[in-house]
Amino acid sequence: MQNPSLRSPDFFKHPEQTKNWAQIKVPANWQTEGFDKYIFTDVEYPIPPNPPFVPKDYNPVGSYQREFTIDPSWTKKQIFIHLGAVNSFFYLWINGQYIGFSKDSKTPTEFDITKALKIGKNTVSLQVFRFSDATYLEGQDMWKLSGIERSVYLIARPVFHLFDFKVTSTLDVQYKDGLLALQAVFSKTPDQKEEGTLKVELLDASGKLVYQSEKPIKTDKAFSFQTEIPNVKTWNAEHPNLYQLKITHLNQKGLKVESIVHPIGFRTVEVKNGFFLVNGVPLKIKGVNRHEFHKTTGKVVSEADMILDIRRMKEMNVNAVRTSHYPNAERWYSLCDKYGLYVVDEANIECDGMSFTPQETLSDQPLWKSAYLDRVKRMWERDKNYTCIVTWSIGNESGFGENLKDCYSWLKAADATRPVQYEAAKDERYSDIYCPMYKSITVMENYVKTSPRNRPLIQCEYAHMMGNSGGNLKDDWDLIYKYPQLQGGFIWDFSDQTFELKDKKGNKIWGFGRDMGTVGLTSDTSFCADGLLSADRTFHPQAYELQKVYQNVGFEAKDLGQYIFTISNRFDFTDLANYKLSWSIKGDGKIVAQGDVAELAMLPGEAKDIRLNVTSFIPKPGVAYFINLEFRSRKAAELLPAGYVIAREQFKLPIQVNAEKVLKEVSRLALKTGDGKLRFSGKGFTVGFNQKTGLLESYQVAGKELIQKALEPYFWRAATDNDIGNSLQIRSKVWQNAFKTAQLKALEYKKNSSSDYKVETAYFLPTVDATCNVTYLIKGDGDVVVDYQLKAGKGNYPEPQRIGMRLILNPGYDQVSWLGRGPFDNYIDRNYAADIDLYKMKANALFYPYPRAQESGYRTDVSWAALQNPVGAGLMAIGKSPLSIGVLHFDMKNLDFDKDAKENVHGGSMVDEGMVWWNIDHQQMGVGGDNSWGAQTHPQYRLPYKDYSYSFTLRPVFSKEILTERAKD
Ligand code: GAL
Repeated sequence: MQNPSLRSPDFFKHPEQTKNWAQIKVPANWQTEGFDKYIFTDVEYPIPPNPPFVPKDYNPVGSYQREFTIDPSWTKKQIFIHLGAVNSFFYLWINGQYIGFSKDSKTPTEFDITKALKIGKNTVSLQVFRFSDATYLEGQDMWKLSGIERSVYLIARPVFHLFDFKVTSTLDVQYKDGLLALQAVFSKTPDQKEEGTLKVELLDASGKLVYQSEKPIKTDKAFSFQTEIPNVKTWNAEHPNLYQLKITHLNQKGLKVESIVHPIGFRTVEVKNGFFLVNGVPLKIKGVNRHEFHKTTGKVVSEADMILDIRRMKEMNVNAVRTSHYPNAERWYSLCDKYGLYVVDEANIECDGMSFTPQETLSDQPLWKSAYLDRVKRMWERDKNYTCIVTWSIGNESGFGENLKDCYSWLKAADATRPVQYEAAKDERYSDIYCPMYKSITVMENYVKTSPRNRPLIQCEYAHMMGNSGGNLKDDWDLIYKYPQLQGGFIWDFSDQTFELKDKKGNKIWGFGRDMGTVGLTSDTSFCADGLLSADRTFHPQAYELQKVYQNVGFEAKDLGQYIFTISNRFDFTDLANYKLSWSIKGDGKIVAQGDVAELAMLPGEAKDIRLNVTSFIPKPGVAYFINLEFRSRKAAELLPAGYVIAREQFKLPIQVNAEKVLKEVSRLALKTGDGKLRFSGKGFTVGFNQKTGLLESYQVAGKELIQKALEPYFWRAATDNDIGNSLQIRSKVWQNAFKTAQLKALEYKKNSSSDYKVETAYFLPTVDATCNVTYLIKGDGDVVVDYQLKAGKGNYPEPQRIGMRLILNPGYDQVSWLGRGPFDNYIDRNYAADIDLYKMKANALFYPYPRAQESGYRTDVSWAALQNPVGAGLMAIGKSPLSIGVLHFDMKNLDFDKDAKENVHGGSMVDEGMVWWNIDHQQMGVGGDNSWGAQTHPQYRLPYKDYSYSFTLRPVFSKEILTERAKD
């Protein structure tokens, strides 16, 4: 129902009324099941902010009812109903009898419903409201969906039962022996007939009993146990050693009443002397923020989904996860215990939709204090026994105030074994870790450089992976590896929150913002697409970059000539002997030498110089050689196979044998003029210029025309999300049509020798007050050497996005080969993970379809690239110095951002348009990545307004030649 006034007032009393109601799965979001509307907002609330009130006209209500059966064997039991997560607020009835209500959509509620039940058939009814006052504390940047998001089930217990337990399993001061402390509380004090025994056992991974103790249950309901386990196998994210804690309740006859088994690991977490320590080790947090999200089921995620997420994290060398921004499903923590991830568990508190002024923020209003505390307590009560949780977070983006201070103090009093953090506490004492968000390299460095700090810096969010992003991650991590008190951070964020859809033409796209419909509120468009991974958990190109900066081995070239490298073990708890180091040397994409290093035992944190025993090889003239080093796991881990590459590095070797100039037979070059064209032809080719435009507009190879649209200077790129965030497309707009409005000032051609001609062109670009001179040396063998020069004027002009030239080839010339960085999309500030090699793929595979269409399809450090048709005819571009290339199978303007567009444009909608768009660039500016709301690409990766020049040769390819040879002079 659209609002509470329309809801059924008494359906819970009259099950017959509900006979014809629609069915819905539980758990499921209403919206993904076709009910109500999707809303996505980042900062703003989904309702007009007027706490604690919510709209009367639009506040959908979902009424649920189902029958269930109670078995006679439950007669004497105490029966609870468990509701895992209900969004946002509900009332509950059993057999028409009101039971209670609950808020906090991310922690479970359990009600004792024994009295309302009968043996046999019963009905449970629930009325769920989309908005309530709780909405004001759940303003997280995410899809605002509703419904029952986690499982609902019944629990039958004896009336006298183990109600709760708290276990701490830490280490002694030497981090060697385990300290186990268990407190167990029964539901009540026992009657005489309920007396019995409480037995506690601890079993190691092999099932061996390492501790056992029993206490008689007589008049008390609370019990504690304490012991030391010598030489315990410690838990950490690299080696998540678990023990099974078994708590058994026995009756007077010694028979089992109930037994609870809970895995625990022994580990200590501290903030000591300014460092965050796990088991005494000041580790680096290689973290991600993760929302619970699935591409079709929204906020409902299965165990298989969770395991896939952990697998992806392990693949990316992630060791920590922040449950941004609410307690996750319980299973998540058990899996993190099992597979090994450090978890920052965050309370379900965010009131970013209110201003942060002390007058407005809910965090300072006494009326809201109990709601804040309730959320923190519920998180702690539910999660206190999970080993993986290393830090509590009292919420996200809620300003600051007394309520949060109380949450901090409550947690500190409840739990002496874990730090508590909160971003907006900044320098105040209400956060044990200094955990800002999106702080620049300079801010991070200043924090640690000036004086030793009493708290480590671990960013709770850093770098924003929205769209084509992930620039300068290497720079971030070079700094983090340099300063011990910079202990890492949690990247924003793990995966896109987009929905799997089809566009009108049936192409697969990722739905964001208004794609999912709207209820007339604002929508924060593609801000839900800011993950390292696509919503189906495939890697976006930036995921590879993160994987590499997070890798646990550091490589440095000490003496490349002698093949001496400094290897550092960046694991915190693992010897490198577990991994096998192998190396290979490649030139022109071919392996010329390779080998393994027998064993490399290195303790965590250790660095060593190693010299590789490289068998000599004869370098070929004109070939650049690269050595690739990689560590692979010797044994399979739980989620990664044996042989998985856990770290790798590539170095260019100082080997260069200059190619001898081969005296080629000089072929004759003929020139024909007429119709305003210059036509140069030689054996098997013709190159044509237009005298009106001065452009190279025709290249015929093997009798076929290659070019659809002339080669011309090009300065623009389709705005990325980061560009839009800093208004680059507005600031640098003058470059968009800089060449379209160019004036040809001069065109000269002359015979250079009997076998070549020179065509010289000069343009003035009025929109940017620059001149662009392009000279072409056309040779008898079909080569065209292009020399490009941009001369900036005197004024102040914004930066171009690229310096380069673009041409469009005819359909069919779509087999792309290149010697350069790949295989995935890379940019000058995001190419650390992209190795130089010989790659080949179809033109449509170079473009990466980000949810919102934007710049993509780029490769840097390209010595040469060739675009050929299936029989091998085509064109190569060979750089005098390395080029960057962009290839699209459609017109780049399809990717351009139009802020007034009625419909979202998606990467997935880009289809083959029967052309091959080819940018042959000197450079394109980097993609940036610090944030998508103003941060610019770092200066060293931008192209300031100044003079530039570069040069490349266009060379025809006639057949399936060996391109590495064809690329040589
Ligand atoms: C942060 C916030 C996140 C997310 C991010 C931008 O400020 O905590 O939830 O909104 O910005 O995507």
